[in-house]
Amino acid sequence: MPGEERYLVTSALPYVNNRPHLGHLVGCILPGDIYTRYLKLRGKKAIYICGTDEHGTTSELAAREAGVSVQEWCDRLHEEHKRDYEWFNIDFARFGRTSSRTNHEMTQHIFLRLWENGYIIEKETEQLYCEHCGIFLPDRYVVGECPHCGSETHAGQCEGCGKLLEPTELLEPKCVVCGSKPVIKKTKHLYLDLPKFKDRLKTWIEGNRHWKPNVRNWALSLIPDLRPRPITRDLKWGVKVPLKGYEDKVFYVWFDAPIGYISITKEWAEEAGENWEDWWKNPNTKLVHFIGKDNIPFHTVIFPSTLMGTEEGFVLPYNVPAMEFLNYEGTKFSKSKKVGVFLKDARELPYPPDYWRLALIWMAPETGDTDFTWEGFAQAINELADTYGNLVNRVLVLARKFFDLRVPEPGEYNEKDLELINFIKSSPELVGRELDVPRFREALKKAMEVAREANAYLNAEEPWKRENESRRGTVIYLALNAVKSASILLSPFIPGITREALDRLGIEGVSWEDAGKIDLEPGRKLGDPVILVKKVSDEEVQNWRERFGGNKERESVEGVRMVNEISFEEFMKLDIRVAKVLKAEDVKGAKKLIRLELDVGELGKRQILAGLKDWYKPEELEGKLIVILANLKPKKMMGMESQGMLLAAEKDGNVVILVPEKPIEPGAKVH
Ligand code: 2FM
Ligand code: ZN
Repeated sequence: MPGEERYLVTSALPYVNNRPHLGHLVGCILPGDIYTRYLKLRGKKAIYICGTDEHGTTSELAAREAGVSVQEWCDRLHEEHKRDYEWFNIDFARFGRTSSRTNHEMTQHIFLRLWENGYIIEKETEQLYCEHCGIFLPDRYVVGECPHCGSETHAGQCEGCGKLLEPTELLEPKCVVCGSKPVIKKTKHLYLDLPKFKDRLKTWIEGNRHWKPNVRNWALSLIPDLRPRPITRDLKWGVKVPLKGYEDKVFYVWFDAPIGYISITKEWAEEAGENWEDWWKNPNTKLVHFIGKDNIPFHTVIFPSTLMGTEEGFVLPYNVPAMEFLNYEGTKFSKSKKVGVFLKDARELPYPPDYWRLALIWMAPETGDTDFTWEGFAQAINELADTYGNLVNRVLVLARKFFDLRVPEPGEYNEKDLELINFIKSSPELVGRELDVPRFREALKKAMEVAREANAYLNAEEPWKRENESRRGTVIYLALNAVKSASILLSPFIPGITREALDRLGIEGVSWEDAGKIDLEPGRKLGDPVILVKKVSDEEVQNWRERFGGNKERESVEGVRMVNEISFEEFMKLDIRVAKVLKAEDVKGAKKLIRLELDVGELGKRQILAGLKDWYKPEELEGKLIVILANLKPKKMMGMESQGMLLAAEKDGNVVILVPEKPIEPGAKVH
């Protein structure tokens, strides 16, 4: 069965609580599409699998809010998601649904294998129960405070710190339906016995040295604390549990969702005349999961354990390229606050799908969170227009003017020609190396280089000048080959625009290797010149920013005013410490400054200059414990360095310094 190497590429299955926005597209769906297109150009057997993740409390709550049945809601949202992705030219082998019969059967089958193999344990537990609504409160049905980071969050996974949370772990829990305080009630649930997989997981993850460091490290950090994890819920909407005594329960959404990857492959295979097991149980399959970073634990530890536990020879992921988060102009996408661009909105703007694909990769959160900005959007498109768009148009204009729209015959090559030829020849390998990792931004940059080099070559050779007539055929011939090369290398990113260019060269099927060949046959008919990429103006940028901007000052869910909200991770970058003032004195010649010599415990001694003279005398400060921001970049004032910032409160011109409520060692961290 093994046969040739094959790639099974998946994208995290989107929930159907909402229509997707640009963050969802760049988070996994677009990268997976670019990667699969690239593999196919390389001649690899590859399929791209995705679909909607329809079970769980997110869908139930969204349907409840919309006042329709969950089934009706999921049907509608599935179609809307599908249409959105089709518009962006996402080339799925199949876009399925986790609520399909195939997935119900596959989930039950996999569960029974885990049960028979002794990887499932039963436990009676205490769960939150809302007496007012008469329901148990799993995951998103309960909100409260995260015991780890203090964020206001629902259970399941903390929205602040990403830790996995049981409903009973939340502090001050409340029922989301009615707001009342739940009671604790006993119920029986099934657990996946994760500790049994510890050793196998550790060896496997450690061996995956080609994974992104943050993915591998996060996965490894989960291993020591692995505990059995509940995989059932007291809900109605979901996959039924095929076990006596569990008739009223369904599987937890995160149990059946990744199994959806298998079921959707099976549905695809049935239509395509393939065998799904040749993909999922084949040592020659490379399984690649494109996901957002919050999904790392599920794809590197929990789902692999499920697969191992079946003992049916399922392949484990070969790579899990996780993206970080895309924000919108410095803030979070929000449907309710009308902030950010949803795919539905993007489709209505006067830009083709490729503009979005290109701009999103240009700003992709590959190594850290990034922002979608309208300036970035314009910059990406305008760069493409200046390099690739310009090249395609000017070469065809030259071919029309001098060669009646036919590929000219090249003459003998000189050194400059050979330089360009070598550049073209090496580019598929250079771009391919980045896409193999995958590193999309770098790959895009390198693919655009081909057009940039060819433009520079044309500028230097000036084939339109009479005195260069003898070189004209050669130069235009090579520039046409550069158009072909750039079009192929850019095609995974912008398949629509590059197809138009290739059509003008009369080229139908292409392979990645073709991008490195100088092989256009002289005499071949060409299409008319065309402006493939129109620039985006400052006015458009301004216009869209006003339309999609939202307010910088917004209200949080509870009506608390949030000003320039930051993430928990951003907050954690601040190193706030208690410090003891050893000495305080006026700074000569400065009206407001006092120089403080501080003991910051483990961080040692340092000085800070603070503008406090109007409110404090130096001697009042000496011996006091104060609070400072210790990792602020040092700043020079009055010829002296201030190494941090004293924290003080200010209101209506009055200033008071912050002090700890009780004595504590200098250097103590403030969270
Ligand atoms: O985070 C999410 O949007 C989930 N619906 C992803 C599921 S991925 C997979 F495992 F199905
Ligand atoms: Zn309730």
